[in-house]
Amino acid sequence: MPAIEILGFEKTYMVGFWRKRPKCALSPLHLTVRDGEIFGFLGPNGAGKTTTLKLLMGLVFPTAGSARLLGQEWTDPRVKAQIGFLPEQPYFYDHLTAHELLNYYAQLSGVPGKERSRRVEAMLQRVGLPEVKGVQLRKFSKGMLQRVGIAQAILHDPKLVFFDEPMSGLDPMGRREVRDLMEQLKHEGKTVFFSTHILSDAEALCDRVAIIHKGELRGVGAVEDLTSSVQGKVEVIWQGTQVPTSMKALGAECHVTGDTVRAIISESQQDAAIDALRRERLRLISIVPVRTSLEAYFVEKLQRAETTAGRMA
Ligand SMILES: Nc1ncnc2c1ncn2[C@@H]1O[C@H](COP(=O)(O)OP(=O)(O)OP(=O)(O)O)[C@@H](O)[C@H]1O
Ligand SMILES: [Mg+2]
Repeated sequence: MPAIEILGFEKTYMVGFWRKRPKCALSPLHLTVRDGEIFGFLGPNGAGKTTTLKLLMGLVFPTAGSARLLGQEWTDPRVKAQIGFLPEQPYFYDHLTAHELLNYYAQLSGVPGKERSRRVEAMLQRVGLPEVKGVQLRKFSKGMLQRVGIAQAILHDPKLVFFDEPMSGLDPMGRREVRDLMEQLKHEGKTVFFSTHILSDAEALCDRVAIIHKGELRGVGAVEDLTSSVQGKVEVIWQGTQVPTSMKALGAECHVTGDTVRAIISESQQDAAIDALRRERLRLISIVPVRTSLEAYFVEKLQRAETTAGRMA
């Protein structure tokens, strides 16, 4: 059973004050997320990521389409108990402390009294906030509030978690911690669906990703399939600052950084390149097939869409 099935969700907002006109935020979207995977929902600003998450949460109603979460209708109240959600810009009562707020959420989601305190403490520990649990939220930084938001999303031990921009406002260490936390959630058998525009985080973390642009799905697949090998090219890295003439003769594109040199050559020249380095007594560090990055795939999908739209206009 898939964790999420989006069956043609569509959303048109009416915008303008006097003369309202329709604005399509999401064209019919069909998407399936498997049970137990970390799924990245990628797209530039205004692509329709938050709209999709709000539709799934039942915070806005679709113009058309429906969805199933954990095999049930997405509006079914029984589903709500099994899902967690971090909104894009979480807002909390800021006179409460982190401990009070989480305790309140634990009560709301029916965590039994005896277990509540232990669960809240564990959650504060898990998101790296144990020392500030007694500080009012109005004194928290953006990154600290984001951590409180993540804690409230997973406090009731949901099977399926939705995060809208979970890395937003976090420093590099904080981003790393959130990535680790998402991996832990996956190991606990949960499904994680998150939106982001930080492609390196998605690349490091996701089993599969979808790319959305101007409300339309542009691509979906496993990260390693989307970043597939560039036909017949390898990257050779060696220690040194010079490029042997015999290497240049192979038509290698070389870049010197610090005390290493990177060269891109065709796979058929690989043995000749190793011989060239051996003759010059240069230390080989690695030879790996060249892959396109997720960023290159993302940019290509967006540009292709622009070109097609340009041609159609
Ligand atoms: N309540 C609303 N009324 C009118 N238009 C809206 C509303 N909410 C969103 N939109 C429009 O729908 C489109 C998609 O917005 P959405 O917030 O889903 O994008 P996003 O992918 O989450 O972007 P970001 O990365 O900036 O968060 C945008 O053009 C936005 O202006
Ligand atoms: Mg958004």
